[in-house]
Amino acid sequence: MNKISIHGEWSSKMAFILAATGSAVGLGNIWKFPYMAGQYGGGAFVIAYLLCIIILCLPVMMAEVMLGKRGRCSPINTMRNLVRETSQSKLWVLLGWSGALAGFLILSYYSVIAGWAMAYVPTLATGTFTEINNIPASEINDFVDSIFNSLIENPIELISWHTVFIIITMIMVAGGVKGGLEKAVNFMMPALFIVLLVLVGYAMSTPNFSEGFYFMFNFNFNDLLYLNCTETSCELSGEGLLAAMGQAFFSLSLGMGSIMVYGAYLPKDASVSKVTTAVVLADTLVAILAGLIIFPIVFSNGLEPGAGVGLVFKTLPIAFGQMPFGTLFGTLFFILLVLAALSSSISLVEPAVAWLIETGKFNRISASVTSGLLVWLAGLITVFSFNIWSEIKPLAGLNLFELLDYLTSNIMLPLGGLLIAIFVGWLMKKTVVAEELNSSIDSFIYYIWYFLLRYITPLGVGIVFLNAIGIFS
Ligand code: PFF
Repeated sequence: MNKISIHGEWSSKMAFILAATGSAVGLGNIWKFPYMAGQYGGGAFVIAYLLCIIILCLPVMMAEVMLGKRGRCSPINTMRNLVRETSQSKLWVLLGWSGALAGFLILSYYSVIAGWAMAYVPTLATGTFTEINNIPASEINDFVDSIFNSLIENPIELISWHTVFIIITMIMVAGGVKGGLEKAVNFMMPALFIVLLVLVGYAMSTPNFSEGFYFMFNFNFNDLLYLNCTETSCELSGEGLLAAMGQAFFSLSLGMGSIMVYGAYLPKDASVSKVTTAVVLADTLVAILAGLIIFPIVFSNGLEPGAGVGLVFKTLPIAFGQMPFGTLFGTLFFILLVLAALSSSISLVEPAVAWLIETGKFNRISASVTSGLLVWLAGLITVFSFNIWSEIKPLAGLNLFELLDYLTSNIMLPLGGLLIAIFVGWLMKKTVVAEELNSSIDSFIYYIWYFLLRYITPLGVGIVFLNAIGIFS
């Protein structure tokens, strides 16, 4: 199986690292990670997240890239090729299908949230938040709240931004591996990083930086052992641990084929362990920086860390309204956030687009248009769940958007990761795996990775799942 993918190939290892980092770094790091950490009590969530990244996700990421590199197709056909090669049950192809479905569902809501970030670009550019300097401190929260709420309560505005975002995503995907995907991330990642550092600098100058820092990093291991949320202190519940694991998979774009399909475009001689470690480090750093920016602002302005999905959209504008050159930095920040979301969204739909092309009935353009239309339609569910359907809560008190997010992040992605670990760790030939990783079977890194993948990842994911449904309590 040495052929090159029919979709093309990255021009270098660096291009893969940038693209995979582009996929990983996105709304998950800057929008989702801080609000989840805020909702699940700070330090305990952060440590659980970091442990999941190192113990569960890093091994899965290497395995997922390796699968793609071996199969050289869309995840569905990659799995088909590998099932043939390993003489395993055809049911394994379902892994590819569930990945494509998860990508489709995630993009449907991801695009709506990215639309919020787009809507904030003109709001910041026109200096709306500098008004904060003219109102009493006690009214600042209401002011930022009202701007956010008037956006999400307006379905027409949300649909408009969602439409724009999907159109741009599909134009980029239609451009193909080298033409569209690669170019976009080249300048974006470094720029985003610089703006984040500037904002960390600002956060450090706020009066409550240490409180924000403490909130994020203060944990004790009991939090992880007791896994309980009480009235007075929020130790991490089983649900919280599941959320931390789901967030780790979501943030690294794992368990649904995005990273697999990017691996399919990787040059044969690339070292999988090095490229994946680089991606994991960059992604984790961005999430931590986002937390270090947001929580000091939260505490310095008496906001609620558990404010939920609006957290970033309410806290950062306060900073931008008050800091020197805030209008400029604020505008730049939201532009970069949109770009970061774009480099993730293209990877969310690439598995489906690549598969459509492989059926022979579509070219890249018609495949992109078809997927775009379907995702756009599905996105309306999320749009309405913030306004006219906000009272529809079909399950466990979750509205439709929350349900989609829960189903994909907390269940589909970790389950995908678990199956990837089992397939690579138990069903593929050791020599084939080592060959694709460009590593020798008896190297130390290979040994550790293989051990984690075979035993620890399946056990870890399994325990978190069982714990969340209350088996251990
Ligand atoms: N990792 C992206 C983020 O953190 O925003 C979101 C994402 C992209 C999730 C691709 C899953 C995926 F396959």
